[in-house]
Amino acid sequence: MDLLIKNISQLLQTYRQTPPARLSGSQMADVPSVDNAWLLIRQGKIEDWGEMSNCPSFEGEVIDATGRLVFPGFVDSHTHIVFAAPREQEFVDRIRGLSYEEIAKKGGGILNSAGRLRETSEDDLFHSAMQRVKEVTAQGTVAIEVKSGYGLTTESELKMLKVIRRLKDALDMPVKSTFLGAHAIPAEYKEDRQGYIDLILNDMLPAVAKEGLADYVDVFCEKGFFTPEETKAVVQKGKELGMKPKIHANQLHRSGGVQTGVETGALSVDHLEEMGEQEINALKGSDTIATLLPGAAFFINTPYPPARDMLNAGLTLALASDYNPGSAPSGNMQLMMSLACVKMRMTPQEALNAATVNAAAAMEIESTHGTITPGKAGSVVITKPVSSLAYLPYSFGTNLVEHTVINGKVV
Ligand code: NIG
Ligand code: FE
Repeated sequence: MDLLIKNISQLLQTYRQTPPARLSGSQMADVPSVDNAWLLIRQGKIEDWGEMSNCPSFEGEVIDATGRLVFPGFVDSHTHIVFAAPREQEFVDRIRGLSYEEIAKKGGGILNSAGRLRETSEDDLFHSAMQRVKEVTAQGTVAIEVKSGYGLTTESELKMLKVIRRLKDALDMPVKSTFLGAHAIPAEYKEDRQGYIDLILNDMLPAVAKEGLADYVDVFCEKGFFTPEETKAVVQKGKELGMKPKIHANQLHRSGGVQTGVETGALSVDHLEEMGEQEINALKGSDTIATLLPGAAFFINTPYPPARDMLNAGLTLALASDYNPGSAPSGNMQLMMSLACVKMRMTPQEALNAATVNAAAAMEIESTHGTITPGKAGSVVITKPVSSLAYLPYSFGTNLVEHTVINGKVV
């Protein structure tokens, strides 16, 4: 699709040549921009941009973005948007004093979602997930990673991954799929954890690989869920079968998830609410991206990741929503930016870099997304009239996206 966006009050993330593949530490403070700009998208790709004083004449669709910002669409590199049912009763139980872990121990949490998912058809899962994609697209998301992990049997894990494959086929945007069979020990293996690990290693992973259903392998490495040793075994097998690791690490405790992720060469370690100097040092000098999920910290009321310490250490921070029915029932990346700014003291520029450039790296789409660069996908956000980038996270809870453009098409 061809589209000219003109009179843009500020075009953000403009890199004409060799855009950064990722930004770390103090590099995250800056967002290059052009005031009073135009952006031309041809055949779905960014062709060029510049100042209005040299705006090209153009025959096709034109959008006047007077008073508005334009920036690369959000990349959400960590979600669980395939699920059968919400869990608002657990939310009420937490208000009344139960913790996320206590609810999980009683058979709620992930096991609650697994029970519901097993009873739900592939078609129904697909349609409800598609609804959620539409919702987050309207909020500015243009690429998404989606995990399995609410099946916890070979059959139901494959069912989830097939739903993700249908999303990939149906959507005109990058969708990455992650196998998360090691999300929780299902009830039927409560007395036989090794039996479940063996099922993952010898049955689930080979079946997933055989059908080419997953790009990545993930493990919930956490006290009460999977140990670092178990995580390594699953990741090792996943790697042998061509899946790179992305790990749920240090959400509830300093459980060794970060170190395990770094040791196994994970693309990212995600959550990181519980971080000490050792974990930050482990990430320093590694290629593993630190993905922060402030929606989960907000919703289940845990401490937030120490983003400033991580930035001071020069780490590469990405932001994602963790959209799921238990710990983060929102995929709104604008809200994630607000939480990043208010609760983790990231600046609006750092938050935007985390949700675009670095998030694209965290799902390996940095060559096509994350910056406004000729040749990259014409997938951008046009805001409502706003005074500056800071107004976005400042005005929390409002959808300030007027148009989401995907491959040059207003959706
Ligand atoms: O990222 N922490 C593990 N997994 C999800 C939540 C799963 C759930 O509660 O359904 C997360 O927060
Ligand atoms: Fe998650």
